[in-house]
Amino acid sequence: MTVDIDELKRLAAATAVDAVKSGMIVGLGTGSTALLMVQELGQRLQKGRLNNIVGIPTSEQSARQAQSLGIPLTTLSEQPTLDVTIDGADEIDPQLDLIKGLGGSLLREKIVASSSLRFIIIGDQRKLVHRLGTRAPLPVEVIPFAQRPVSDFLRALGSQPVIRENDGETFITDEGNIILDCHFAEIANPRQLALEVKAYPGVVEHGFFLAMATEAIVATSTGIKHFKRE
Ligand code: 5RP
Repeated sequence: MTVDIDELKRLAAATAVDAVKSGMIVGLGTGSTALLMVQELGQRLQKGRLNNIVGIPTSEQSARQAQSLGIPLTTLSEQPTLDVTIDGADEIDPQLDLIKGLGGSLLREKIVASSSLRFIIIGDQRKLVHRLGTRAPLPVEVIPFAQRPVSDFLRALGSQPVIRENDGETFITDEGNIILDCHFAEIANPRQLALEVKAYPGVVEHGFFLAMATEAIVATSTGIKHFKRE
């Protein structure tokens, strides 16, 4: 049986938008699955099924998309607490710990998610993993000045960091930083690794999102799976 991944993404995205009620402040994730969620949100607003929604985008890309759909936007300075944020992920483990950032927006995503009462992850079945680091590299956002020392440090921790590129150019994040994608043979203890990486000078943020997601809505070939943090 062939699985239509785009259809699964759409299903997860539309199911998650059911959690959005009129009047809510909503964090708008980044990536191909989050894009479908923002599209669905825009359509529900246009059809009058929702009203008075205000979005806080997690990237310039999702800001542009929301604006094009007429979704009103605000900032964390105006609205420091969000009702819900809906975003994609690169890996989701059984505890709902995540790796995020292959879309390049992990820093703003983490800030917005940390300010949200509910943080709902959406994805297709490929994102479910038994252990973090088995499917995706760990993205680490670094100030450009610190590229070499941070790369050396990440290599000493057992990874093979690769500077992310886009169309042959170094990828620059919305905050003006670079991303090192770190391939580890095995990540035995994500919490310990997260602490060590975050503490190193020049590291701005890493893509571990540990104990942050309150729910995950994952579309599979046998239906929607709705996981909730215990
Ligand atoms: C962006 C992210 C994305 O949410 C993540 O990469 C998943 O993207 P997609 O839905 O395209 O697979 O973390 O920084």
